[in-house]
Amino acid sequence: MLISIPDVLTPQQVAEARVILDQAEWVDGRVTAGHQSAKAKDNVQIPEGHPAARQLGDMILGALGKNNLFLSAALPLRVFPPLFNKYSGGQSFGTHVDNAIRQIPGTPHRIRTDLSATLFFAGPEEYDGGELCVEDAYGVKKVKLPPGHMVLYPATSLHHVTPVTRGARICSFFWLQSMIRDDGKRTLLFDLDMGIQRLSADHPNHPSAVQLTGVYHNLLRQWAEM
Ligand code: NI
Repeated sequence: MLISIPDVLTPQQVAEARVILDQAEWVDGRVTAGHQSAKAKDNVQIPEGHPAARQLGDMILGALGKNNLFLSAALPLRVFPPLFNKYSGGQSFGTHVDNAIRQIPGTPHRIRTDLSATLFFAGPEEYDGGELCVEDAYGVKKVKLPPGHMVLYPATSLHHVTPVTRGARICSFFWLQSMIRDDGKRTLLFDLDMGIQRLSADHPNHPSAVQLTGVYHNLLRQWAEM
């Protein structure tokens, strides 16, 4: 499932972040790429663990922790500290798949990358190109979102970023391990949760809402890995 999560950050948070991002140190993006994706990757990044990355990463993770749509869609277990990249002057990232396992920098912990996330900091009008193109069973989905919005997609998918031919595309990107490894099961739980919420809103106190909520939690109990 590919899902857009609107308004993860407020316009004010985006504006604050842009000031920090404009002053940050940017290095060759291949530092975090695997062997094969390094050949396809052409962009710049803020170094991992850089104070700017840490400060903005905390802002993003704090916002996501309160975002019900994100929590329902991702069912997150562990989140990789957000990284930041920039594409300009024709830079792009060719078709690749993200590494399955990533070491969390400065810790002995590793995460399995079930989901990839991209949060946009530049508005679509600020640059040409720079679409995130994600391939799934139904074809290629092109994503270019307003600032503060985020897309979440299965890390199992092939994806690429088209060349940025004008302006600069600035994003945060990171991965997360979900309590539900399988995308199909995670999507079922998300659909069930959305259905329960709609039922509860349309028919408050309908007894079926309690029954379906029980089904949701019992499926989660069967499938969740911690
Ligand atoms: Ni990628």
